[in-house]
Order: sequence, then C-alpha cells, then structure tokens
Amino acid sequence: MWKIGNIKFNSKVVLAPMAGITSLSYREFNKGFGVAYSVSEMISDAGLMHRNKKTIEYLKTSKLDRPVALQLFGHDIDVTLNAIDFINNELKIDYDILDINLGCPVPKVVDSNSGSAWLKKPNELYKYIKSIVKHSPKPVTVKIRLGFTNKTINVFEVCKLMEKAGVAAIAIHARTREEYYSGHPHFDLIKDLGKQLKIPLIISGNIFTLDDAIKAIKITKAKAVMVARGSIGNPTLIKQIDTYYKTKKRIKDATQTQQINYCRKLAKMMIKEKGERTAITNLRAIAPKFFTKFKDAKKIRCEISQTIKNYKDLDEILDNLNK
Ligand SMILES: Cc1cc2nc3c(=O)[nH]c(=O)nc-3n(C[C@H](O)[C@H](O)[C@H](O)COP(=O)(O)O)c2cc1C
Repeated sequence: MWKIGNIKFNSKVVLAPMAGITSLSYREFNKGFGVAYSVSEMISDAGLMHRNKKTIEYLKTSKLDRPVALQLFGHDIDVTLNAIDFINNELKIDYDILDINLGCPVPKVVDSNSGSAWLKKPNELYKYIKSIVKHSPKPVTVKIRLGFTNKTINVFEVCKLMEKAGVAAIAIHARTREEYYSGHPHFDLIKDLGKQLKIPLIISGNIFTLDDAIKAIKITKAKAVMVARGSIGNPTLIKQIDTYYKTKKRIKDATQTQQINYCRKLAKMMIKEKGERTAITNLRAIAPKFFTKFKDAKKIRCEISQTIKNYKDLDEILDNLNK
C-alpha cells in the first residue's frame, strides 16, 4: 500500500497523462484493469483563465474515473492559481490530485516557458510549486524529466526542491527533454531514488511489458510505474502488473477475441464521450494498436487506420477478424 496525501493505493499502476489519448472515456476504460489513479491530458492554465470551452472539457471526471489527477501546465503563478480557483470554486470539479506538468518537450510549450522548460530554472520552479502547494486544496504532484539536455541532468536537485516545496509525489519520465520519447529510459541514473525520497516516486519510460515494470521498480525503488504508450491497445498490461504485485502470478496476454471486445468497448465509450466524428478520428490511431500481435496484423492495422469513417466500418473489420 502507498499513499498520495490521504489517498491510499493498492495498485502499483498509474495511468500516465497522454495528450490526445487519456480523455475521460480512455481513463474509465482502463480503470477496470487495475489502475491506482489516472492522470488527465495536460490542460493549459491560460486556456482555463480565458474560459476556453475546449480546455474546460478536459476537466471532465466521473465517479468511475476517481481517484484522478488533473494535470495543468503553465508558467505564470497568477494564471496557475487563477486556474486552480476556477476548477475548485466555480466549476467545482470532482478530482483528487493536482499534477503539474514539468516535462512536456513540445516546442510550443517549452517556448512559452512551460513544461520541461521549468527544469532549466530549479530555484524559480521551487517558488512556483511552493505557491501552488500552499494554494491547492488537493495534494499536488509533479511530473518531471531527468533534465532539460543530456548535459544538464539535474533530477536529484529538482526532486529535493520539489520535496521541500511540499509536493505529495513525484513522477519521473526517465529521459531528458532532448531525448523526447526515443531511446531507452535511464533508470540507472536514478537508481534507488525511491529510497532517498520521503514522498512516493512514480517511474515512467518504456513500460511495455510486465518485466519492464518489474525492472523499473527494482532499479529505482519507485512505489509505482506509469503506463503510457504501453497501455494503448493493451489494457491487459495494467492487469498483468497489478496482479503480479498482488499475487506474484503472471497473467497471459489477451487473446484476439478479447482484444476485439476491448477495442469495441473502448470505441463505444469514446463515441459516447466525444461524438462519432471526433472519436473515429482518434480511433484511427488507437484501434490498430489492439492488433499488433496477431496474424495479418499489418493488413488489419492499415485497414483500420486508413479506411474507417464511422463505428460501422470499424465493427465490420472486427467482425471479419472473428471469422
Ligand atoms: C501521445 C503522448 C502524449 C503525452 N502527453 C503527456 C501529457 O499531456 N503530460 C505529461 O506529463 N506527459 C505526457 N506524455 C508522456 C507520458 O506520460 C510518458 O511519461 C512518456 O510517454 C514515457 O512513457 P512511455 O515510454 O512508456 O510511453 C505523453 C506521451 C505521449 C506518447
């Protein structure tokens, strides 16, 4: 068992924030596989301050979704605090944890001094996070990277400062901003870090199999892993990790029939949330991932990603797969 603030978790799997993926329906779908808590897509504090309709939609949560963290990104403390007030006092959103994005590598975000740009100025970051912790009615967590460039790795310094600022947990994507999402994560660079921190460490980076999770936890002594790209098209991975740490048992990969059922279920949930048009656009990227391991996988994946225009198209492809 581990805790963030007063929230207790039995599972060692956190569903990572993924912009364009981890909307409410995606989080609800994965929850049942054994997720401790999920993190929303990153949400612009400035977008909230300007009452942008689309930004506000990212804040949607549900009973099934809880516990859930909402992730904000920003660079100006007044704007961030304003967004926190808006979420709590005006919208009265039901959520459990406030997460601050300090790892996004995208130029548009970095150029506005948000996301991983914060790693370049740890002392300013300390003041920023301290003010957020003081203001937030919910426990505050941060998600960082090892450093901004491969030559300026400062993860230990940043962790100490975040702890001092009062955050309730730290998630580390074990790559630098320079590395984006490529290459192997460097768990070795943060060996045993979990033991040195007084707050929980959550580890992220290439968690695609149960053994990836075991290795990451063993090296870093993290309390949990964040499953990100590994969850897309493979929710069973969450169950495999959760079950292993509860029972030491290894669950088999899903069968093709199970994958078809999961894909249909997720598609229906996404359509309910976003409407058919938007959901199908998103599903062209997500649905093919359910079929990477099977006979004719490439053909099926191309068919899904290139031809589906509505749920019926997807349904027909999946029906043919079952024959
Ligand atoms: C499509 C995509 C979107 C992402 N969006 C976010 C985000 O909004 N906030 C965040 O902190 N990290 C985001 N990440 C980073 C992931 O949470 C995770 O740390 C990273 O993908 C490393 O894990 P992986 O190698 O297992 O995928 C995103 C990653 C991907 C692939």
